[in-house]
Amino acid sequence: MIVARVEADRVRSLAGVEFEPDPGLTVVIGPNGAGKTNLVEAIYFGLTSRSFRTSDRRDLIPFGTSYARCRVTVSGGMVDHKFMASASRSEGNRFTMDGARIEQSEAVLHRPMVTVFSPDRLELVKGPPAGRRAHVDSFVAARWPARAGVRSNFGRILAQRNALIARIANGQADSSQLSTWNVQFAESGAELAATRSDAVGELSERWTEAAEELGLEGPKSLGYRPGAALGRDEILAGLEERLENDLRLGRSSWGPHHDEIRLELDGRQLRRFGSQGQQRMGLLALLFAERASLLEAGGSAPLMLLDDVMSELDERRRERLVDRLLEGGQSIITAAEGELIPEREAIVRVAITGLTEAAEANGSETTGSETSS
Ligand SMILES: Nc1ncnc2c1ncn2[C@@H]1O[C@H](COP(=O)(O)OP(=O)(O)OP(=O)(O)O)[C@@H](O)[C@H]1O
Ligand SMILES: [Mg+2]
Repeated sequence: MIVARVEADRVRSLAGVEFEPDPGLTVVIGPNGAGKTNLVEAIYFGLTSRSFRTSDRRDLIPFGTSYARCRVTVSGGMVDHKFMASASRSEGNRFTMDGARIEQSEAVLHRPMVTVFSPDRLELVKGPPAGRRAHVDSFVAARWPARAGVRSNFGRILAQRNALIARIANGQADSSQLSTWNVQFAESGAELAATRSDAVGELSERWTEAAEELGLEGPKSLGYRPGAALGRDEILAGLEERLENDLRLGRSSWGPHHDEIRLELDGRQLRRFGSQGQQRMGLLALLFAERASLLEAGGSAPLMLLDDVMSELDERRRERLVDRLLEGGQSIITAAEGELIPEREAIVRVAITGLTEAAEANGSETTGSETSS
């Protein structure tokens, strides 16, 4: 499945922008502030009704107006589908497929998966472990949909155990009540650890391969460092041992909520010692590893949206990246300068200024009303 057409009716600075990306690699070029990131965000919004930049979708509403809207046509499945996402100050969010409201969980069956690279996402490599845990857990949901609930199940039990510990610490509850929560914590924690271990097992070799191919030189690894024991019984025993400590702290001090997914280069954490370019390659390799895994599992290639991906990469590495993208699947990348994009015949180049000026010439800023789709 591919995105055949994007109509960013009103998204941030974009108004009436129509765009038909190539089934292969399209590069969107334009100066700073021209709306490249907005276009990438609009595509993501049209497909998922969410933004990768903000949790408040009202940020997408163009200044001084009342709603944002993007429509995306997906083709290559059994039939074409038209998705529409909107955010409105007065009417909230709306997400439809072929004119009928649709839930995210159903929409994913009819559209390509989307993978996003944006400079903000480097935080995934550079930042604290929580971001990596969440990311690996979302890969789990994509790769093994039946295990999608494992993370939230553990999270709920952790919250309940923490609440009870706080009550015990305040003398409002009795520590004998903890044992049922300990069992649940141990069971769901072991399940989460097994799931993450499988996910990292699925990704680690592919990550090393992709990183090598992109030019991340030196011995490297993607590994799972559990924050607690792996088995149910060991976790249960560990909780008992730490009971006093937990009561003193007022929370669960040990468990898979302290897991780390570690990216290493030359035996050192990429997060702490990697250069900007190395961290960038580390993140891209992770996205490629996930893509390879999903493809091999028989899924269709995710759409790759790579915003401002070329900066900080040298020429040789930029070439490797586009060659990898040209191997298959649909990708849309943005760049401030066309010269950053290696010369390849198969690449389709689009100027963002061309798209936005055409929209102005059409006067399409004034079309559409909030409720029509
Ligand atoms: N809600 C909004 N309404 C209108 N304009 C907005 C809104 N949010 C952001 N903008 C504007 O959109 C413009 C383009 O932003 P965008 O991030 O897409 O540029 P860009 O082409 O990606 O630039 P760069 O090369 O610097 O990354 C900015 O001038 C910004 O102020
Ligand atoms: Mg940008």
